[in-house]
Amino acid sequence: MRHLRPITICGVLLLLALRSTCARAETGADAWLRYAPLEGQAAQKYAHLPATVVVLGDSLVLESAKTELIRGIRGMLGRTLRDDKTLPRENAILLGTTSALQSAAPGISASAGLREDGFLLATEQVHGFDCLIVTATNDRGVLYGVFAVLSKIARDENISSLHETQQPYAPIRWTDEWDNLDGSIERGYAGPSIFFENGSVRADLTRAGEYARLLASIGINGCAISNVNADPRVLEDNFLPQLARVADVFRPWGVQLSVSVDVSSPRVIGGLDTFDPADPRVAEWWSKKVDGIYRLIPNFAGFVVKADSEGRLGPATYGRTPADAANAIARALKPHHGIVFYRAFVYNHHLDWRDPKNDRARAAYDIFHPLDGKFDDNVIIQIKHGPIDFQVREPASPLFTGLEKTNEAIELQVTQEYTGQQRHLCFLPPMWKEVLDFDMHAGEHPTPVKDIVAGKTFQRPTGGFVAVVNVGMDANWLGHPLAMANLYGYGRLAWNPNLSSNRIAREWAQLSFGNDPVVVHTISNMLLTSWPIYESYTGPLGAGTLTDILGSHYGPGVESSERNGWGQWHRADHDGVGMDRTAATGTGYVDQYRAAVSKLYESLETTPDNLLLFFHHVPYTYVLHSGKTVIQHIYDSHYAGAEAAANLVQQWNSLKDRVDGERYAEVLKRLEYQAGHAIVWRDAVCNWFLRISGIPDQHGRVGHYPARMEAEGMQLQGYVPFDVIPSEDSSGGKAVECAPPAQKCSAAFRFDGAAGWYDLDVEYFDQNNGKSKFRVLVGDQVVDEWVADDHLPAKKPNADSSTRRRITGLALRPGDTIHLEGIPDDKEYAALDYIEIHSSLD
Ligand code: GCU
Repeated sequence: MRHLRPITICGVLLLLALRSTCARAETGADAWLRYAPLEGQAAQKYAHLPATVVVLGDSLVLESAKTELIRGIRGMLGRTLRDDKTLPRENAILLGTTSALQSAAPGISASAGLREDGFLLATEQVHGFDCLIVTATNDRGVLYGVFAVLSKIARDENISSLHETQQPYAPIRWTDEWDNLDGSIERGYAGPSIFFENGSVRADLTRAGEYARLLASIGINGCAISNVNADPRVLEDNFLPQLARVADVFRPWGVQLSVSVDVSSPRVIGGLDTFDPADPRVAEWWSKKVDGIYRLIPNFAGFVVKADSEGRLGPATYGRTPADAANAIARALKPHHGIVFYRAFVYNHHLDWRDPKNDRARAAYDIFHPLDGKFDDNVIIQIKHGPIDFQVREPASPLFTGLEKTNEAIELQVTQEYTGQQRHLCFLPPMWKEVLDFDMHAGEHPTPVKDIVAGKTFQRPTGGFVAVVNVGMDANWLGHPLAMANLYGYGRLAWNPNLSSNRIAREWAQLSFGNDPVVVHTISNMLLTSWPIYESYTGPLGAGTLTDILGSHYGPGVESSERNGWGQWHRADHDGVGMDRTAATGTGYVDQYRAAVSKLYESLETTPDNLLLFFHHVPYTYVLHSGKTVIQHIYDSHYAGAEAAANLVQQWNSLKDRVDGERYAEVLKRLEYQAGHAIVWRDAVCNWFLRISGIPDQHGRVGHYPARMEAEGMQLQGYVPFDVIPSEDSSGGKAVECAPPAQKCSAAFRFDGAAGWYDLDVEYFDQNNGKSKFRVLVGDQVVDEWVADDHLPAKKPNADSSTRRRITGLALRPGDTIHLEGIPDDKEYAALDYIEIHSSLD
């Protein structure tokens, strides 16, 4: 045994070292800017890094660049750089614009062709000393260069001999936040606003400043902080100084402030009796208002406008066009170099669903294409990536090629409104890339969406990228610790849409969890598979996210899209499913694309399976390119998706002890929840299609759950069965609830299986209007208890609130009685759906 001792000691030391890394409490607040200490060899690689930083120039942004560099190096390498003002007499890191560098040290590195915000990293001799130079045409570019250097160090990249230029793909790289002045956030899933509370800008803007730093680190240069469903009060004179405070915390990070405005503001807060954009008084009002803003916020970016959409007032009130409205505001901003983002998300939400020719997807093109060339050059049309609304899969919006003489920006959504609301893992860069890389065939050469919005295809002066993010006060910004990969991915793609999803996932995993190859491999694999997984149990074959579109946009709600004016129709009936958008027999939407694209989608043969139901109405028995029928594909993909979601839990489990405990536990909790909710989705969608199509699942799974014991079939004391609406939101269409006057209820059944180890899945309803308590007993022994205190988006028992509690490793014997006890609270009646029992060995 003696010879084993050294190994054992090493092992213990290693374990201790590992522990010390893993023990760092991590809330996720640092996101990808953790600057965690590098150890051993990794740190050694940077031993020759100069000891001094010299900043040539003087500005808030350069100051941020310098302090960030010092902070990052201190964190990762444990060394504090000397801060020097003049060219050194030793090796140094030089920060400064190209002009500052040239005048301090003429002949210094060539930087020809650098565009605004682009930067050059170069190792070079200056006055005989080895220097690492970070330079750009503007201060912000220098800041971006510093973040790039720090990212390289954190990811263990060699920086000893650099000559690297990085340029942004487009000038516009923004985020929109849908924050309301009362502190709530529309479609926000991570706590209240970091900008507003109780009708005012927050007194403490620390988080807003930290957010600007995060945005800067991925090259974001503008942020609209208020909801597109705009509150006119943001423009009131007494509100503007408050906005200026936000601009102040953004400024050191080169992030320009913007707000969303209500076009009726001249009437609502301006004292005019009109907001007609053609009325000179209205133009004058905007002009004076904008002048006032710039007096307080000289680097103000401009406005975002949502008008004539979803109940918002707009130029249509006066028979004017979006161009009239956009230009009236843009002209006020023009002298200050401000811009207007006018959103193309304009459609009629009272469409007649009975008319098969009606089609919401057509709206943006129908409205904006005829106005091409009529918008001023400081107007940018902000176009959602697909023609509907951030569904789990959509084709690229045809409007991208519908505007040749107008600036464009693509609008993406980081906040996962239709993609699991940060309770489900869904890494979106692969989805965005499908659209960004999609060739719209607008010329002889490929014309992918990324080139069009960047202004390259039609030679526009400006354009780019916008994403709705909706970070909140939750320490980790977006709720799910892994959801920040979407914000990171968005920034990286806005900077360079040619980056691969794989590269982005790996970078993010390294920066957020360290360079352990097992961790990086596992997390990036989880990220890269997560969108296809989510899609497979929520939105088959391009039908859109089959969610409750009238309410939460969260859980399954197949029926909710139909027979209403919102136009998110999938047209599923007894015979078939899908929207016929062809020119030959459908709504004609396909003709909004250029010829090659419209040809592709017009034909059933060439439409890819994954967009089939977006473009065509087909019978359930239609055979896909994959060889499966549509209905069998729906069943199979939902079962495969739920299984894959369960597998995400396994993958994450393998990282226990390799990542910090805090984030490990938080991610595990969310993945376990997701695995349970994927089954809710699977069953709701499959049962709905079974009912409507009448075609059974070839594999006999849908509607048959042998391991399931329905609550309504148990011996009930106090619990009363009720119908869940819609019926597919619960197993068998029924559940039981413990309604007043009952104060405690129970449901019991006898276990008749063989003796062995089992896992018990309790499906219950966790509403947001009460905190019921549950207990599970085997015989007299309490084996689990919990409180249903989650904040799911539901006030009643349905597929939004349906939640799984998994109790693992129970020794059950035939004849055991299993009891479930529920204690209701407030309006939540401890409702139960079913129990499933599986052998622990499965
Ligand atoms: C979606 C979303 C709304 C939002 C709208 C928009 O419809 O559900 O909350 O206001 O998009 O982008 O304007």
